[in-house]
Amino acid sequence: MCGIVGYVGGKEAYPILISGLKRLEYRGYDSAGIAVLSPDGLAVRKCKGRVSDLEAHVNGTPMPGTTGIGHTRWATHGEPNDVNAHPHVSANGDLALIHNGIIENYAPLKEELISRGYRFKSETDTEVLVHLIDDIQRKEGTDLPESVRLALENVVGAYAIVVMDRKHPGMLVAARKSSPLVIGIGEEGDHYLASDATPIVEHTRNVVYMEDGEIAILDKEHGLRIRNIKNQEKHPSIQALEIQLEALEKGGFEHFMLKEIYEQPRSIRDSMRGRLNLAQSDIVLGGIKDYEKRMVNAKRILIVACGTSWHAGMVGEYLFEEFARIPVEVEYASEFRYRNPVINEEDIVIAISQSGETADTLAAIELAKGRGATIIGICNVVGSSIARVTHAGSYTHAGPEIGVASTKAFTAQVTLLTLMALMIGHRKGTINGAKFQQLLMELDAIPAKVERVLKTEAQVKYISEIYKDARNALYLGRGYSFPVALEGALKLKEISYIHAEGYPAAEMKHGPIALIDEEMPVIVIATQGASYEKVVSNIQEVKARKGKVIAIVTEGDTVVKGIADHVIEIPDTADALVPLLAVVPLQLFSYHVAVMRGCNVDQPRNLAKSVTVE
Ligand code: AGP
Repeated sequence: MCGIVGYVGGKEAYPILISGLKRLEYRGYDSAGIAVLSPDGLAVRKCKGRVSDLEAHVNGTPMPGTTGIGHTRWATHGEPNDVNAHPHVSANGDLALIHNGIIENYAPLKEELISRGYRFKSETDTEVLVHLIDDIQRKEGTDLPESVRLALENVVGAYAIVVMDRKHPGMLVAARKSSPLVIGIGEEGDHYLASDATPIVEHTRNVVYMEDGEIAILDKEHGLRIRNIKNQEKHPSIQALEIQLEALEKGGFEHFMLKEIYEQPRSIRDSMRGRLNLAQSDIVLGGIKDYEKRMVNAKRILIVACGTSWHAGMVGEYLFEEFARIPVEVEYASEFRYRNPVINEEDIVIAISQSGETADTLAAIELAKGRGATIIGICNVVGSSIARVTHAGSYTHAGPEIGVASTKAFTAQVTLLTLMALMIGHRKGTINGAKFQQLLMELDAIPAKVERVLKTEAQVKYISEIYKDARNALYLGRGYSFPVALEGALKLKEISYIHAEGYPAAEMKHGPIALIDEEMPVIVIATQGASYEKVVSNIQEVKARKGKVIAIVTEGDTVVKGIADHVIEIPDTADALVPLLAVVPLQLFSYHVAVMRGCNVDQPRNLAKSVTVE
């Protein structure tokens, strides 16, 4: 996710753009840039770092002009640095473009443009767009809006873009597909653009939310015009903004954590974007292409991580062993680094980290790397320390995760591990074609199924009310759901401060069953699958001791409904994909219990978002 702002009107653009970017830094903050059009031409300033670093960078050189665009970046392609920062500029310096999203087919487009003599300065997918628009203008002699429209007909992926052109002073052209863009209608013909209403609301409350496939022309002379991708004029529907500024940053949600739970259909889709190819029945992970063979031939996979990322690694163990038939050991990075572990040169080590800065995970990587293992990273922050020290890796593309309790990062990590395990299994032939295709289709259907699970929130909230004063909680699961039980327990304890434990369901009789009483909630993941009957027996063991059972079940389940105290139904899916759905009610449960207990959900006591100390 990146932050986009634009302005065209009668005021100086620069101060409006800078303050707008500051409002959007929660969307991405690894680099920033601004372009302003003045009678002297197109001025562009951009640099690595936060908006305040950009301000310092600009300070010596004023940027006069009343038309401008600004961008604060969350890197997806190309690490955070001055060159990869937006805006990106056409070869002749006439066009400047900013972009939020992922251009899936940027590589073939880039090759084609290079073959026609275009030179690229950055590693970004975005730069392809500005050269493509410039190329069309030259070839077709079209104006800026039409050139943008024709260019976007060649683009596959998600985008919110704003373009300006020295040849069209007083004009901004914007387009969106799967990434948000809001237009603000100001006084005296002023027009504003932003990724959300946060930077706009201080100037005007009259906004137009752009729809997918629309192109907007903000013109000082002719005002606002909106067209669809077929070039048909559309009448803009202006809404009056009610929401307060503070709530806007959270997208109208009370906390970043809830916003990020609700972002999961999008973030899971983004982590598959350009990688899961249903039509070709294939998975392409460009970031590990050069190491694919080594992974296919691996004798052992070690996964090192901490916290929630370690739980994702636990899901990875089941995935790689089932689909790629490669033995996996999941290690707490903090233990691994001090244990003098046996590491062989043909070992593959997968390091999982949302922040890419966790000290223990970094140290574990250095140890394994020093003994000759191949290190593959799964990170959410492009250019982070862990991403830089691994041999190769895949970014999760979940967007900034602000809430300290990790939610969308977990499901994005599990999605990436699923893609990796399926791809290796498919290359090795340890999954047959039909099963592989069926799993790809199931995986492709997950974002929509997560949307359905989110509709259980009211029911989860009702259950949270009943158990918000519990002193302990037990989470149980078998197979793929055992790591989900661990993750659910971590969520509850880290934000509501209720002690909670995750356990393999069968292990309950080896001790934890002594804890069962009428007070303690026992949360059981009891979805249809290989071990369903066994889990039902475990629920009966709890009920026989008057325990309280909250069960996550497959839609339509009547058996558990007759035994448990509460059931939350989630859509049916393959066993291996249950973690992506079953974790969502557990995230919501921990969130609502914490809110009802008056806890600081986004910044729980004693915790940090990134543990960069040992
Ligand atoms: C997750 O909810 C926690 N905040 C924490 O366990 C986190 O997962 C852990 O610190 C690892 O962080 P990383 O993924 O950034 O390496």
